[in-house]
Amino acid sequence: MSISDDFIQELKYKNDISDVIAGYVHLKRKGKNLLGLCPFHTEKTPSFYIYPSSSSFYCFGCGAGGDVITFIRLIEKLDYVEALKFLCDRAGMQLPIGQGDDKVHKKKILTYEINREAARFFHKNLCDEKNKNVLEYLLKRGLKVKTIKHFGLGYAVNSRFSLINYLKNKGYKENDIVDANLGFRTRNGSVCDRFFDRVMFPIIDLRGNVIAFGGRIIGDGKPKYLNTSDTIVFKKSTNLFALNFAKTETNGQIILAEGYMDVIALHQAGFQNTVATLGTALTEEQAKIISRYANEVIISYDADEAGQKAASRAINIFRNIGVNVRVITIPKGKDPDEFMKTYGDEGPTRFRKIIEDSKNDIEYRLQKIKSDYNLNRPDEKVKYLTKAAKILAELDNSIEQEIYASKLSAEIGIEKSSMMIQIEKYKKYKNRKDETQYFKDVVNKTLAFDDKVNPDKKDNLRASVAEEALISYMMNNQDRAPNILEKVSEDMFITVFNRKIYNIIKKLYEENREFDITNISSQGLSVDEIGKVTKIFCGYVPSSGTNEALEEYISVMKQEKYKQKVNDVKDMDALDIKEYIERLKAIKK
Ligand code: GTP
Ligand code: MN
Repeated sequence: MSISDDFIQELKYKNDISDVIAGYVHLKRKGKNLLGLCPFHTEKTPSFYIYPSSSSFYCFGCGAGGDVITFIRLIEKLDYVEALKFLCDRAGMQLPIGQGDDKVHKKKILTYEINREAARFFHKNLCDEKNKNVLEYLLKRGLKVKTIKHFGLGYAVNSRFSLINYLKNKGYKENDIVDANLGFRTRNGSVCDRFFDRVMFPIIDLRGNVIAFGGRIIGDGKPKYLNTSDTIVFKKSTNLFALNFAKTETNGQIILAEGYMDVIALHQAGFQNTVATLGTALTEEQAKIISRYANEVIISYDADEAGQKAASRAINIFRNIGVNVRVITIPKGKDPDEFMKTYGDEGPTRFRKIIEDSKNDIEYRLQKIKSDYNLNRPDEKVKYLTKAAKILAELDNSIEQEIYASKLSAEIGIEKSSMMIQIEKYKKYKNRKDETQYFKDVVNKTLAFDDKVNPDKKDNLRASVAEEALISYMMNNQDRAPNILEKVSEDMFITVFNRKIYNIIKKLYEENREFDITNISSQGLSVDEIGKVTKIFCGYVPSSGTNEALEEYISVMKQEKYKQKVNDVKDMDALDIKEYIERLKAIKK
């Protein structure tokens, strides 16, 4: 990547980090810095900081961090060059021509192209007279031709080489087709179509790229659906079917359905704010994406047990990130697609009524447990209320607690105060549990048991803390760098990751470039690694930036390195140990 530092500086200047992030996160000022709820993990108390002085952000909860470019990479799921493009567009700048030649970026572009060609090919097959049985299948299921076109549905014919040959004729290489997960290599080395004899549902991202496919078998058979596995442009857990259409139709509200056909049937019926996950349970990441387009979600899952279980899970995920949830139950156990087909022209009006009558998440959960008990029996009543109190205790909002406690007590005929006492009891228990978890997390983080970026840290805690302090010192005091680089060499680092950062700093120094977060992170670091560098940069207080402190870091690194060299003290004889101790003392001085 050879975009000049000047260009990047200009880009960063025109995309002020606080402004950009304010478009995604509600921020509060805290001294010189800004603070908000982290958009990259679920939290109730903010630990996501923006440091305007160094144009960086860091989350003390999940370790995400970096500059404005990293932020855009993470939140918009873009690679480095795409993030630059994104910010250029935002600032009305032009990315220097010929600079989009990053390897990953090129592969992504190629994969989008292959997917688009495949989608066209599948769609053409569906329009082919030879395959009219497939079109008939879809029409019989209630889809209109217009809908089929709108979603770009297609058909993968019943052959093993049809798409492969088509793409190869267009000049695409077998390996790239396999990497796009549209083909797979058989044992004899030839490449076969991954999808055959299936109705194809293209999955399209928010920028209009075809990124994957879902393929449904025609009629009965197993597996019913086959989906693209994760590729360089597709991750199941962070994409949603039809969000490309739904995002502009939300009006603050999104309907979450279970399957492709449900989404399509609902869109056709005028509910274009419907999306679905891609054959897996809702993830936190998907919920966060939805929350960017809506503050209320209507869950419309199947009425069967699996569907209802999935609904309960989804409720919790949405509640945790502050999205209102309502749950609809379609009568007679139908899914939305069957519902629309059954009611025809009346479907949309009836469905709208169901949405209007739908219960919020708490009412839904209370109603669900209620159906488990026979409320004519006093002992069952007690069980019901106990369970209800547990649910209400989980709420953070005490007004909500009061309201539902009133409702329940009136319904069952008990004093509201008894209900509240029970809720308080569970709340205490819950707080204790939360606290225990909190301390567990703190301990784990401090001891670096979960440091995936620098796995050497946990066995070399003292060394790596000194290394990090030294790196932070260099980043914060660039004028002192020549001096430090002279004193410290790369082999004094024990942990591989910190050594890598040291070498990057050294390289930037030699190239006469600044070693700020932006320049360091553009040296091929992953976003996790960038987070770690930002943590190191922000994590050490300025008072530890004295000369004495610096000497101390270097001395600790030397001691630890020496210890590591001697490594197995057990195997040393007395004389060795004596000498070892003497040398340690000498280093300490
Ligand atoms: P129809 O049966 O055609 O109406 O589809 P549906 O979407 O109603 O299917 P269903 O309710 O059974 O499943 C919901 C969603 O789960 C589907 O849209 C798929 O995304 C996923 N799914 C269902 N069956 C399979 C399967 O066999 N394999 C995989 N990977 N996903 C499946
Ligand atoms: Mn269905």
